[in-house]
Amino acid sequence: MQQVVTVKEILHGALDAKLVRVRGWIQNKRTGGGIIFVLLRDGSGVIQCTLRKGKVDEKTFEEFQSTRIESSVELHGEVKTDPRAPGGREVQVDEGRVVHPALEEFPIAKQFHGPEFLLDKRHLFVRSDKMRSILRVRAVVLSAVREWFDKHDFMEVHVPTLTSAAVEGGATLFEVKYFDQKAYLTQSWQLYAEALIMSVGSIYTVAPSFRAEKSRTRRHLTEYWHVEAEAPWCDLNCIIEVEEKLLSHIVATLIEKCKTELALFEREIEDLEKVKAPFERITYDQAFKMIGEEKSGIKWGDDLGYEQEKLLTSEFDRPFFVTHYPKKAKAFYHMPDSKNPEVTLSVDCLAPEGYGEITGGGQRIEEYAALLARIREEGLDPKSYEWYLDLRKFGSVTHSGFGLGLERVVSWVCKLDHIRDAIAFPRLINRIYP
Ligand code: 4AD
Ligand code: MG
Repeated sequence: MQQVVTVKEILHGALDAKLVRVRGWIQNKRTGGGIIFVLLRDGSGVIQCTLRKGKVDEKTFEEFQSTRIESSVELHGEVKTDPRAPGGREVQVDEGRVVHPALEEFPIAKQFHGPEFLLDKRHLFVRSDKMRSILRVRAVVLSAVREWFDKHDFMEVHVPTLTSAAVEGGATLFEVKYFDQKAYLTQSWQLYAEALIMSVGSIYTVAPSFRAEKSRTRRHLTEYWHVEAEAPWCDLNCIIEVEEKLLSHIVATLIEKCKTELALFEREIEDLEKVKAPFERITYDQAFKMIGEEKSGIKWGDDLGYEQEKLLTSEFDRPFFVTHYPKKAKAFYHMPDSKNPEVTLSVDCLAPEGYGEITGGGQRIEEYAALLARIREEGLDPKSYEWYLDLRKFGSVTHSGFGLGLERVVSWVCKLDHIRDAIAFPRLINRIYP
């Protein structure tokens, strides 16, 4: 019996004129003139397989003629080069069997379906070319992230998802019952990361973060994947350099490994080739002036939201940094700028074309008294941050870090209209099914 090979091996390997066995799902099917054309999808790719009357037995031909799309099947046949076949090769089947026939018509057809319908059928929509391509881009982004950090001596570390205090403000905290105590789902690993850098040096993580975002926007999930890094002996400038080099490496890896996927989303390679360190930097003050106070709809000191970033990023064709956000727009741990304590040594990276913020971070407050004062100023309970304050008692150093939203990056590179499509099963304010 022939060994099972993958579609990828058939399309790209040296299997021409060889007999192979493949298995997968019928993505599409059409019949004409005694031939059934089956588009077989196996996870590694899609290939055309032809079943000819006479070449396969009568029973098999009839079985494949009547079976519905998305049935699981196993086929055996010869690999042939055929310029008319998508991918340039096909399998001319001599034997086949339906493993499990689809019991009903597949509910997702070629016709237009509304977004809510596709979200209800997400467990099936994940089989689409669009979702498969996005999942591959996600995986490539993450492997590039790990490759870059590992090469630059950042160690991967994990911290709890269940926490006892807010990192990014109470408004977006998910509360959970923790036996007879109150706990929260983490918004960011940052506070734990600041403890760990004093043990193992520069570190990173890849983990879910949670935000009880009460608004429906194109760029907020309630559960998202967070790539975060923290480094000791590192100031604002140092962390900006880490970010721009990491992002450049991610994009270069996508250009190399995801040409097909990027083409599906009509993302031009030239757009991505511009993404090379160093990125342009502007301050919050400059950004505020560029948008224009009147058009911006915000006052100096307010955070830049989706609308402001949309205006600002339409002026750019590649990612750039906005630095020195006002104290009031940022969380308590941000280091005030010694030259102007009303602003902080903070930085967001904004993606062009209206996508906006893809990373947020900056330099942290080093001194015990300064941190305690900021915690009090924000009306937070110093008791909840006792261990975090402790870190400033035992050899504090200049340190910085950032968080990158994986789905934000995927939305931008794949030109997605909505962040919900950057993850297999999105969690949104109105959706926790399927
Ligand atoms: O800007 P944020 O809130 O920063 C932090 O959490 C820092 N503690 C990170 C750090 O310095 N270690 O979040 C970081 C990034 C944002 O830039 C954005 O890309 C993403 O996380 N993000 C979200 N992505 C999807 N849905 C949401 N609701 C998000 N909230 C933040
Ligand atoms: Mg932010």
